[in-house]
Amino acid sequence: MSSRFPENFLWGASSSAFQIEGGWDAGGKGKTVADFNSFKRSDKQADSKVASDFYHHWKEDIALMKELGMKIYRFSLSWARIIPDGDGEVNQAGIDFYNNVINELIASGIQPFVTLYHFDLPYALVEKYNGWECRDCACAFERYARVCFQTFGDRVKYWQVHNEQNLMIRVNERMNIYEDDLWKADKMRAQMDYHMFLAHALAVNACHELVEGGKVGPAVSSTCTYPLTNKPEDVWAAKMNDWFKTNYCLEMHTDGEYPGYYMRYLRERNIVPRMEPGDKAILKSAKIDYIALNYYRTLCASYLPATPEHPVGERVFRGNEVDFDQYGYCRDEKNQNLQASEYGAQIDPMGLRIVLNEYYRRYHLPLLITENGLGMADTLTEDGKVHDPYRIDYVRSHIQACADAIEDGVELMGYSPWSVMDLLSSHQGFRKRYGFIYVDRDDFDLKDLKRIPKDSYYWYQRVIATNGEDL
Ligand code: BG6
Repeated sequence: MSSRFPENFLWGASSSAFQIEGGWDAGGKGKTVADFNSFKRSDKQADSKVASDFYHHWKEDIALMKELGMKIYRFSLSWARIIPDGDGEVNQAGIDFYNNVINELIASGIQPFVTLYHFDLPYALVEKYNGWECRDCACAFERYARVCFQTFGDRVKYWQVHNEQNLMIRVNERMNIYEDDLWKADKMRAQMDYHMFLAHALAVNACHELVEGGKVGPAVSSTCTYPLTNKPEDVWAAKMNDWFKTNYCLEMHTDGEYPGYYMRYLRERNIVPRMEPGDKAILKSAKIDYIALNYYRTLCASYLPATPEHPVGERVFRGNEVDFDQYGYCRDEKNQNLQASEYGAQIDPMGLRIVLNEYYRRYHLPLLITENGLGMADTLTEDGKVHDPYRIDYVRSHIQACADAIEDGVELMGYSPWSVMDLLSSHQGFRKRYGFIYVDRDDFDLKDLKRIPKDSYYWYQRVIATNGEDL
């Protein structure tokens, strides 16, 4: 029986620098916003100081990736390891580290799939510019991107610019927004978002200029929101949720300008960012080669009528993060038709098929999945193994959805789930694990950091070896 996946399908697995590397200040690396936030929680959970200690285990870890059969490894470079203060001297020790990793991957038959920025802005740029609020930060990013393309571009052909700009921008601590006045915070956010789009476009153009045969694109946090009922207002609310959380970002990347509904929001809220003459030409000239998406779950929404306490356009807050903001249009609902994970994610493989079809039909670009997975508290049992049938079920059903989407006509380049090994989860440290490889440590006891392939590792190894036939 021939496979439902193309022959050159990019099977892989993913990670990010601050969640996996450790060695947070080794070899001259500078502090990042991700370190800053993770150190604030050091008494409650593991932080980025050691993480999975990939910094010291990279050889052994890549050997396990090879044994798994991975065709690509999607990981991020730490900007502050390469340029510790963000826009100053290039740090040779950082370059050497990534050269070693990249060379070892290639020697192992694994193509590096490199993200430039995964939540870890050099902290020095916050001190200097308030990070992305200042246009200089976009220039610093372009320079960093050029250093990476020039240094690694002879071997790295797949590049990702920002990981989940569309999600990051709504999470205050990831952007280092500490502003109590909601309007001022939103104004700052809109400016930061714009500068990140500009930086993205500059990096896309630089990649095409400097990397022969280079392919570059964004990785978005995808959303698929179902209306709670078939009331037109609920349907509208669900659409608005997807448009405001994800599609505006994709439209900016593909069309080089904000879509009308987003401009309307920016104008009504009086937070239109400063743009310079010439920006439009940059944004429009940057042509992405693919869209990568991270997919974990679907959402459900109902219409939220405006009231004097809650006017349209003003965000709904939960806690002090705007991660759950609804832009004044809709309210999060529970989908009674879906099972939720222990951590509240509504598990929905069919949603993945929907998203893949929707993005492909709308943007007409090849797609790639760079994150998808199930976070659970795995247990190392007395037999020295980790039995994780729940993860196998999750990944299997999502791979099946990929196969269905391919048969629907979607051009899917590859599938790279989260995560290659256990790593630092944003709010649950090592209590919540996603990896195919267990890392023997817990939040406060580093133990021996031993690597132990889980049952899902051996299952995924078979999936890759049979090009997705043996699920
Ligand atoms: C994605 C991020 O949004 O979700 C990853 O790109 C993150 O960095 C992943 O780890 C899972 O989220 P969490 O909060 O469970 O770690």
